[in-house]
Amino acid sequence: MTDNNKNYYVTTPIYYVNDKPHLGHAYTTIACDVLARFKRLDGYNVKFLTGTDEHGLKVHQAAAKAGVDPQSFTDKVSQNFRDLVGVMNFSNDDFIRTTEDRHKKAAQALWTKLVEKGDIYLDKYSGWYAVRDEAYYGEDELQDVDGKKIAPSGAECEWVEEESYFFKLSEWQDRLLEFYEANPDFIMPDARRNEVVSFVKGGLRDLSISRTNFDWGVPVPGDEKHVMYVWIDALTNYITAIGYPDVDAADFRAYWPADLHMVGKDILRFHAVYWPVFLMAADLAPPKRVFAHGWWTIEGQKMSKSLGNVIAPQDLVDRYGLDQSRYFVLREVPFGNDGNFSHENAVNRINSDLANGLGNLSQRTLSMIYKNCDEQFPQPNEFTEDDKMVLDMAQDQMISKVRTELDKQRFHKAIEEIMLVANEANAYIDRQAPWTLKKEDPERMKTVLYVLAECIRCLGIIMQPLTPSCAAKMLDQVKVAEGERSFAYLSAEHALKAGTKIEKPEGIFPRIVEEEEKAQAAG
Ligand code: MSP
Repeated sequence: MTDNNKNYYVTTPIYYVNDKPHLGHAYTTIACDVLARFKRLDGYNVKFLTGTDEHGLKVHQAAAKAGVDPQSFTDKVSQNFRDLVGVMNFSNDDFIRTTEDRHKKAAQALWTKLVEKGDIYLDKYSGWYAVRDEAYYGEDELQDVDGKKIAPSGAECEWVEEESYFFKLSEWQDRLLEFYEANPDFIMPDARRNEVVSFVKGGLRDLSISRTNFDWGVPVPGDEKHVMYVWIDALTNYITAIGYPDVDAADFRAYWPADLHMVGKDILRFHAVYWPVFLMAADLAPPKRVFAHGWWTIEGQKMSKSLGNVIAPQDLVDRYGLDQSRYFVLREVPFGNDGNFSHENAVNRINSDLANGLGNLSQRTLSMIYKNCDEQFPQPNEFTEDDKMVLDMAQDQMISKVRTELDKQRFHKAIEEIMLVANEANAYIDRQAPWTLKKEDPERMKTVLYVLAECIRCLGIIMQPLTPSCAAKMLDQVKVAEGERSFAYLSAEHALKAGTKIEKPEGIFPRIVEEEEKAQAAG
């Protein structure tokens, strides 16, 4: 039997297949991957979902341009996002494609349910439509440029008149506001929550949820000249993957409502306004949280194909290393804010935190143990106050602090808590100076080195979600068995055993020397 409180369901947005994966896409999924890994190590049953959003006019047009049918087109380009899983070492439990049968079935079932509940009606729609954004705009939102109607996003709009099904969103304003009120953590961060609340307070219009001007989508049940609007189709992926419409499926019972939908700020409205209403209308609980993160710019500029500054995840990995890249993007920017990617910052951060901080701590300590303690963890003597202080930070306080921060998606704060311990351990080495103790008080040296090795064990355990491969190497070096790497082992009770043999340590987090020199020369 699974304990419901110990289940955790986290999702990324599903990515449009008409774009190649870039830093922005990788960022969203890295954040979710870290949470998924953290929760697994913290004893949760985790479901971590990602995938691709494959319907809509844009995809239809891109396929036509490539001279292939949309299905073959999406089969090919969706693979780019599957490959990203390997490139970034994502630990997703499922990868959903909206062109799969299971999804079509779920989307149609949700639609049928909404019809039964009386929330969908047929009418005519006319308005300014931007294909690029797959969205309608009000006349007042548009600018006239060279006789063209341009949306605030820069997309060109065309006048469209079509028969469309509508969802009675306008009737849900009060219930939605009540829901926000009763669930203050539903939308995070707070600033985003306030934006959404004022948007809803401004009044909601019924939502056009079907299209007849193209057919690359999920057919509307009972009226197949319509396909579903891409957003109602796409959002449903989150329940498809856990078995909807079978709400008695084991996964559905265990994982719905989702704990967290992670999204970029640009798609918050769909997740925080439309999605909870669709769900409530279908007698399903809304997710527990939607977190909107910020956007990356590159060296101060918007990432764009025309500027040629789009960063492919593979380039990041080739340049800085996989774990280093994962670490950097979450460390550098307070999660939720926009961030600027700069090569210089990446090098500085990776060198100071990973190479000098963790790497050095580990290398200095283990080399001394290897050379001076007969290649094994020494037997410590009685701990001093200073020893106890560092041990307590690493074995006990760190995990609860990191957990608190991550439960609020404050990745940068969680990382700060970890680095505080690494820095404290480095300061402790300098204070205790084991190299001097070697001659003056070899017994004391043993205790100090033991304390440090134990700090490395704890840091290795807690770094696993962020830097999985490097943390595994750290733990291999301090001989922690595979089955003893979960957070349950973060306590004095599971401390390293004196007498355990170690191998000659090798550096884990290399310094980026050449690049740093270049950056200095340029700066
Ligand atoms: N298909 C929709 C989502 C449907 S979810 C039911 C979509 N796809 S997308 O591929 O355009 O974007 C996916 C995610 O990538 C969004 O969360 C978006 O915020 C994120 N990013 C795209 N560019 C980004 C940056 N430059 N920086 C950070 N994240 C960015 O929207």
